[in-house]
Amino acid sequence: MGFEGKVVIVTGGSSGIGAGAAIHLAKLGAKVAIVGRNEKGLAEVAEQIKNSGSSSPLQIVADVTKDGERIVDETIKQFGRLDVLLNNAGISVHNTICDMNCADFDRVFDTNVRSVITLTQLCLPHLEKTKGNIVNVSSIAGLKPIPTLTAYSISKAALDQLTRCCALDLASKGIRVNAVNPAVIQTPIFQKVGMTDEMVEKLFEQVKSTYPVGRVGKVTDTSAAIAFLADNEIASFFTGINLPVDGGAMVAGVGYKPTEN
Ligand SMILES: NC(=O)c1ccc[n+]([C@@H]2O[C@H](COP(=O)([O-])OP(=O)(O)OC[C@H]3O[C@@H](n4cnc5c(N)ncnc54)[C@H](OP(=O)(O)O)[C@@H]3O)[C@@H](O)[C@H]2O)c1
Repeated sequence: MGFEGKVVIVTGGSSGIGAGAAIHLAKLGAKVAIVGRNEKGLAEVAEQIKNSGSSSPLQIVADVTKDGERIVDETIKQFGRLDVLLNNAGISVHNTICDMNCADFDRVFDTNVRSVITLTQLCLPHLEKTKGNIVNVSSIAGLKPIPTLTAYSISKAALDQLTRCCALDLASKGIRVNAVNPAVIQTPIFQKVGMTDEMVEKLFEQVKSTYPVGRVGKVTDTSAAIAFLADNEIASFFTGINLPVDGGAMVAGVGYKPTEN
């Protein structure tokens, strides 16, 4: 794996998928800048990275919707270069077209789409120098809408198209751009949208019988996919792709039942 000496910005590095990716990439030799608003969450992830014997991460307490310039400046000041931008920070809100309000729609789009555009633009001069790459954390909701997650599903579809546009726009600069599209992965995101622990447990149980692999996704699953796409040595032929990390959910579809062999 080719991360020795490479510098990675991980937005949403204080929790879940971003935290897992930061720990994994640091183990593979990367110097990571972890970004989030939750200072305590960042400090806990930084501790885990240090305890696993990797080099200390830069902790940037910041909001991706407002602090793009500072995120990039602090990373370059600390490490002097940038090789990978992992746009992972994201939020979800339960709504349908019947009850969606503009404030929620704007909040979801500001975080899941607009901040990705801003950070991508700010990182471009640095990624061009290193012939680096970008990985966006989308969702299977971008490929197929999820009921009651309407604003979220639209935002992830927009992120997927943004990924493809950037792949074309930035190819001549030697910058690859790809997305991972996870299905249900065990992280705190479900409680953050107001689900009780009991509801989350029920969702994870349901997933076991509707995903062909028979289990819910783990952060290690997304970390492996992100590390693959971000590795210029092994993934140099990949740009503009959506990589579902979904236990087969996209091919199974509605009504899937495991077959007895
Ligand atoms: N878990 C799943 O099943 C699943 C499935 C498909 C896609 N995803 C996607 O995976 C990504 C990570 O989600 P997760 O499951 O790991 O959820 P999570 O545990 O809730 O983590 C979300 C991360 O995003 C950060 N974040 C949110 N808004 C931010 C802002 N304005 N500025 C800076 N950081 C912000 C949070 O940091 P702070 O709270 O510290 O600001 C946190 O680190 C999201 O894009 C999500 O849509 C998740």
